Amino acid sequence: MQHEMLKKMRNGLFLADNDVRRALAPREEGESQPAVLDIGSGSGLWMVGMAKMFPHAEIVGMDLAPANLSESPPPNCRFECDDVNLGLLHCRGGFDVVHVSCVAQGIANYRKMLDEITEVLRPGGVFLAVDGDVHL
Ligand SMILES: C[S@@+](CC[C@H](N)C(=O)[O-])C[C@H]1O[C@@H](n2cnc3c(N)ncnc32)[C@H](O)[C@@H]1O
Repeated sequence: MQHEMLKKMRNGLFLADNDVRRALAPREEGESQPAVLDIGSGSGLWMVGMAKMFPHAEIVGMDLAPANLSESPPPNCRFECDDVNLGLLHCRGGFDVVHVSCVAQGIANYRKMLDEITEVLRPGGVFLAVDGDVHL
């Protein structure tokens, strides 16, 4: 339900349409294809939507708990069980788009995560965030 609500608010899976499409444009043969990291991927529905929209790209979801999808995900979609608080530097330079949606409550140090995301993104990469500071 949250996924559908956000989709309506954004009129799709993401804003900054041109930037995302540029970052995820198919590459020449022999070059590594574009990749997307979804931190706190939850239901996995955003990942699956992205995997269908960009079938040439690799879509990786990271969450503490595995996604409980009712159908098998597209082949370009994979899931990693991981805690983002343990650090993201093993993903350095590995992604063209990083997406974070509604995970703030589980993040010990949001600023540290943002700093690490800048290292994870390849040059020209795009960071998509739907979140707020909930440390009241
Ligand atoms: C409110 S859900 C949002 C799910 C999805 N991003 C969305 O917008 O529909 C928050 C998700 O973040 C995950 N999460 C929270 N803290 C995390 C952490 N430290 N590392 C990885 N995932 C985390 C939770 O397990 C949960 O699936």
